[in-house]
Amino acid sequence: CGLAHAAPSSAPSSTLDAVLERGVLRVGFDAGYQPFEMTNKQGQYIGFDVDLAKMVAKEMGVKVEFVNTAWDGIIPALLTDKFDVIMGGMTVTPQRNLRVNFADPYIVVGQTIVLRKDKAGEIKSFSDLNDPKYKIAVKLGTTGEQAVKRLIPKATLLQFETQDDAKLEVINGKVDAFVYDLPYNAIFASQNTGAVVHLDKPFTFEPLAWAIRKGDQDTLNWFNNYLRQIKGDGSYDRLYKKWFES
Ligand code: ARG
Repeated sequence: CGLAHAAPSSAPSSTLDAVLERGVLRVGFDAGYQPFEMTNKQGQYIGFDVDLAKMVAKEMGVKVEFVNTAWDGIIPALLTDKFDVIMGGMTVTPQRNLRVNFADPYIVVGQTIVLRKDKAGEIKSFSDLNDPKYKIAVKLGTTGEQAVKRLIPKATLLQFETQDDAKLEVINGKVDAFVYDLPYNAIFASQNTGAVVHLDKPFTFEPLAWAIRKGDQDTLNWFNNYLRQIKGDGSYDRLYKKWFES
């Protein structure tokens, strides 16, 4: 029995190989983040990320399985192999990038403010909210939370486990503002025009990307080449129009 046989030879060397062997791509996200991932009335997941994930799996020749995970625990869940990739509108931040690898960004967004309607006269931008008398709701573990801590540090911050809870606070007038990604807020505000207004000029720069475990060049290479392909051949544009321009 030579040394060569002592080396582990059957374990897949990359997430990509593990997915192919398993025949299933496991995708982690946190549903409720419109229009990227939502649950419809039939209980199925729909959205931009969902369609992209299905396209990826189809191209790989495997099935797709969605693993719904609370946002503030989503990186630990990736690192402990609960799924293969986060496709959940995750902003590439230097801090997160210390723990995971990101594919090339698939879209760029920024934080915006949804304001209680009766505050529209006095608050025109994020800096007007920088006062302890203003209450701002955010979703736990998001870049919305980080943006408020960093750029609106004097405001009173209220963290919520879900975006639905945070959103309700501003609809019900319990807080003055809600800070979250622009696409989410655009839909939120358009559905609640009686209660809120959208300050829709983004005040942060946020590329969103798929996250995988570190040190996996094979998987990163596949994802990046795939992204370039769908961005060039029209299939990305088709999905973008479906979810962002309808
Ligand atoms: N882009 C923001 C972030 O990275 C929010 C993403 C929330 N995604 C979700 N699936 N709930 O923190």
